[in-house]
Amino acid sequence: MSSSSQDGFDDAENIVVPQGEAAAPSPSLDATLRPAAWDEYIGQESIKNNLHVLITAARERNTPPEHVLFYGPPGLGKTTLAHLIAHELDGNLRTTSGPAIERVGDLAALLTNLSPRDILFIDEIHRLPRTIEEVLYPAMESGVLNIIIGKGPSARTIELPLPPFTLIAATTRVADLSAPLRSRFSGGSFRLEFYSEDDIAAIVRRSAAILGVEIEEEAVREIARRARFTPRTANYLLKRARDFAQLKRSPITKRVAAEALGMLEVDELGLTPTDRRLLEVLIERFGGGPAGVGAVAAALAEEPNTLSDVHEPYLLQLGLIERTPRGRVATPKAYAHLGFDTPDDLQDKLIG
Ligand code: ADE
Repeated sequence: MSSSSQDGFDDAENIVVPQGEAAAPSPSLDATLRPAAWDEYIGQESIKNNLHVLITAARERNTPPEHVLFYGPPGLGKTTLAHLIAHELDGNLRTTSGPAIERVGDLAALLTNLSPRDILFIDEIHRLPRTIEEVLYPAMESGVLNIIIGKGPSARTIELPLPPFTLIAATTRVADLSAPLRSRFSGGSFRLEFYSEDDIAAIVRRSAAILGVEIEEEAVREIARRARFTPRTANYLLKRARDFAQLKRSPITKRVAAEALGMLEVDELGLTPTDRRLLEVLIERFGGGPAGVGAVAAALAEEPNTLSDVHEPYLLQLGLIERTPRGRVATPKAYAHLGFDTPDDLQDKLIG
């Protein structure tokens, strides 16, 4: 599995490698469901308020807003926010990703081709090569590109002034960014939070209306309960339930939704087969933990990054695992969910 592999729920923009569970995503529909205006964007209220001030003040001064970083688990709307900011500024979002920028020339081409009001969006910025990062600092801070021409003793640096620009970057692994890079996001670093179940339900209702599919309120709730507090997952589950309902010549009822989700092996808590295997390995092979993410990943034949970026945040959010200084520990709730007896010494481990 490649390190770009995410949760099998990703859309094309985030470079998808489906994991053979919960099936493959459909690439283009997310663009239709993505909110095109601020008042359509549900949730993340604090971030929206902060961005509103940043953008409005910059517009009044007739300057591009300062650089912004979004971080947090996949599927929570980092790219959508970037699109909304570009839209608000009447510019275009020029999208690229960390691993796609291999040479200084790639970055120079991106920055020198921006039109006024355009925004450069770098997804997966944690995968930007270090050599590029060093060229990005002065570009972000002072609006200049330092390009080295030639090699050896005759090499010299030319300073290329850039038109003013805004960089929006996104990452699932903020801890992997160097401190100097993080500090250059002077417009703010915003952590996207999981959504409430009510907000996810509102997103499901909105998406169903856009898709023109009839859905019962109980089915909305069923999907919202199993959607990992994540809009992308909610939309994915809705689309699969729609397919299922279509073949049944039925609206999406609670029963149809439950059957469709059951077929995808998404359980009542929204856990996928990989989530459940992770808990099983932690409990059965590591005695409930503590276990390091590398050891668990090796036992599951998964990428450690996939576990820590995609699976663990949700398991932590549900209180099925805890992170202790010595590694991950399964909680009593995880034992109960998988039908295991809780061991007597579990409390010591959780403290420990
Ligand atoms: N679709 C995906 N994310 C959304 C959000 N935050 N609000 C409304 N619709 C969405």
